[in-house]
Amino acid sequence: MMLRKNLVLLLLMLTVGAVAYGTPRIRQNFNQDWKFFLGDDAAAKLPGFKDGKWRTLTLPHDWSIEGKFDEKNPAKPEGGGLPTGIAWYRKTFTLPASMQKKDVFIEFDGVYKNSEVWINGHLLGKRPYGYISFRYELTKYLKTGQNVIAVRVDNAAQPDSRWYSGSGIYRNVWLTATGKVAVNQWGTFVSTPSVSKTSANVYIKTQIRNKERVKAKIDVKWEVHDADGKVVSATEMKDISLKDTLFEVAEFARVNNPKLWSVKQPYLYKVMTRVFVNKTLTDTYETPLGIRYFNFDAKKGFFLNGESLKILGVCMHHDLGALGAAVNVRAMERQLEILKEMGCNAIRTAHNPPAPELLDLCDKMGFLVMDEAFDIWAKKKNKQDYHLDFPEWHQRDLQDMVKRDRNHPSIILWSIGNEIREQFDSTGVALTRSLVKMVKDVDATRPVLSALTETDSAKNFIYQAKALDIYGLNYNHKLYKDFPKNYPGQTLLPSETTSAFATRGFYDMPSDSIRRWPKDGKTKFTDGNAAWAVSAYDNVSAYWGSTHEETWKEAKKYAHVPGIFVWSGFDFLGEPIPYPWPARSSYYGIIDLAGFPKDAYYMYQSEWTSKPVLHLFPHWNWTPGKKIDVWAYYNNADEVELFLNGKSLGTKSKQGEELHVVWPVNFEAGTLKAVSRKNGQVVLIREIKTAGKPAKIELIADRTTITADGKDLSFVTVRILDADGNPVPDAANRVQFKLEGEGTIAGVDNGFQASLEPFKAYYRKAYNGLCLAIVQAKTKAGKLTLTASSEGLQQAVVTITLKGK
Ligand code: GAL
Repeated sequence: MMLRKNLVLLLLMLTVGAVAYGTPRIRQNFNQDWKFFLGDDAAAKLPGFKDGKWRTLTLPHDWSIEGKFDEKNPAKPEGGGLPTGIAWYRKTFTLPASMQKKDVFIEFDGVYKNSEVWINGHLLGKRPYGYISFRYELTKYLKTGQNVIAVRVDNAAQPDSRWYSGSGIYRNVWLTATGKVAVNQWGTFVSTPSVSKTSANVYIKTQIRNKERVKAKIDVKWEVHDADGKVVSATEMKDISLKDTLFEVAEFARVNNPKLWSVKQPYLYKVMTRVFVNKTLTDTYETPLGIRYFNFDAKKGFFLNGESLKILGVCMHHDLGALGAAVNVRAMERQLEILKEMGCNAIRTAHNPPAPELLDLCDKMGFLVMDEAFDIWAKKKNKQDYHLDFPEWHQRDLQDMVKRDRNHPSIILWSIGNEIREQFDSTGVALTRSLVKMVKDVDATRPVLSALTETDSAKNFIYQAKALDIYGLNYNHKLYKDFPKNYPGQTLLPSETTSAFATRGFYDMPSDSIRRWPKDGKTKFTDGNAAWAVSAYDNVSAYWGSTHEETWKEAKKYAHVPGIFVWSGFDFLGEPIPYPWPARSSYYGIIDLAGFPKDAYYMYQSEWTSKPVLHLFPHWNWTPGKKIDVWAYYNNADEVELFLNGKSLGTKSKQGEELHVVWPVNFEAGTLKAVSRKNGQVVLIREIKTAGKPAKIELIADRTTITADGKDLSFVTVRILDADGNPVPDAANRVQFKLEGEGTIAGVDNGFQASLEPFKAYYRKAYNGLCLAIVQAKTKAGKLTLTASSEGLQQAVVTITLKGK
């Protein structure tokens, strides 16, 4: 009897084992139902700790963005003027039945910063760098019944970052379960060593994890799927002996007549890797694949798939304006859509590894990416910054970034650092060499650069290491011209340019003189105006920078300049140079923090796209008789004629290298009209009217149907109009929002860099006529109604449909 019982048990165990082996990996989003406490409590790591009174929330979460602006906050205005500190997150969960008997991991895409993670009271580890992805294995600590994950996040030591970092578990968290023999974390590497029109060789490397040294024969099968899911190539390796806990296998797969990935047609394949143990499937792993090739030529610039392509890039920090650092795919996608519309085709992830979803979007939408690891090595920029963790962690952080990201076709460059202090110090030589080697050990298919500012190359120790593939030059656009003469054979890439300032909708005259604010490194900034605003005429820049027009004029001239990365695409939180408090976000963006383009946006659009552009500014509400500079950006036309109240003020064409035209006009209320013409034919007409008093509100949703998935967003622009429907350019009305239905307002903003109103609110003052409400779906299909009202104004309503998942 006893024997039979044991046999049954044995059979049962075997069956359970077989089930575990037979089911491929499971990856579940682990964002729901976390408990949160802002403060420190050492007992919170213990499983029995009572967290019932803590707030319940869904990740990603950034507690800083929920806080109050205060000049005294330790992160200072440079860090965004918002609170930082220490906080805890806890999650109680039961392991899904499907994950039992498997190896189980918790994966964090990013926690800012100094996270420590416990499972059922066991410390799993600590990860200081706030931008890096990491995972811990939970398997041996898991219990049947309830398990508790506790995470302590410590962003208290300040000043840390030179910009707003956000605080908390601000990126996605995943729970992954695999069989005992499975593809390791970031364990695939696909590359395309040879590509022609008729065929591509795809090199697929797979690292298999066999932690328990299971003794068996395994087969690895790889398939390349096209965008429709059709298998276009397959290859395999059979009867591999599992010798080690980690081992690598590699094969070539040939794809005939490949569709190439490009910025215009970002065609994506994927590689499916399947692992079999004794013929039983134990893992399926998907890797994105873009078939493309590229090269930098010191004389001729950048080539993608053999064709010359100017890199039209911007630098982007990770914050999403009013949403803070909390990752939201739609918010990132919207930023990229706005940039794409401008003609931008490249992103630099300043100055840290981005959220993985950003890279997925760049793959899909056709952006080239410079993926950057660090802003700091061993020498500090701020007292509490990454220099403290660099000695112990930099190798791990750098190689993890490259491992995680190397399969994205969008990435064409690795940057090992931005304006690193070791440029000025002989330790830079050895460090540069070792960092470059660390990258190349993981991926040797892409060039490595560092963004440099020390232009005397004899004194630049990072350059002197002679280990970088490309000279990443920040600013100094006047050096582009003679670069080939001064650095024969060396490839240049302006890794960061411009740093011009502007506030959307704000204009200071005269517009024809360029100002550097601050003047130099020593003089404190005292100019400006009481409005904490910077003129949007593109005539103000930092002393180390240049205006948009100055920079692009120079960069477009030379074939040996492969492109630029403008500082910056969007305004971002923190670094409010040139103004002191209450300024708390940057003035550098081509687009403001709320996502409203400033005027320079159209300069780029007129240069970087072929769609017809005619952009006329400023607004037309001034005091009578005032002399106003009227500017226009245009393309696809020979000339622009300006009319005021029907009277021609003359026809202008861009002269020489100029990228805009300007008319001095004595203000008179009425209608300003510009007409662009090519060969005498009208291309475009633009009109701006003098607006009367604010009379009504208009709501424009970027999408009126969104998904009821608890994440999706509709960005609703609020415009203040006069009685005739003209936008009122200086309107500052306080708008109150009411949202009915299954949704929330995730954030509000108006793009003004010195506004101290909260981002998490149901009201916002308009700034220069505009504000924004970011509406977020809950999880029920239905309808949302957003009503915007303001004293004395006719209210507006917009309806947003929530469609089921
Ligand atoms: C650069 C730096 C950026 C930002 C910018 C502002 O030197 O790399 O992070 O600080 O200046 O102009």
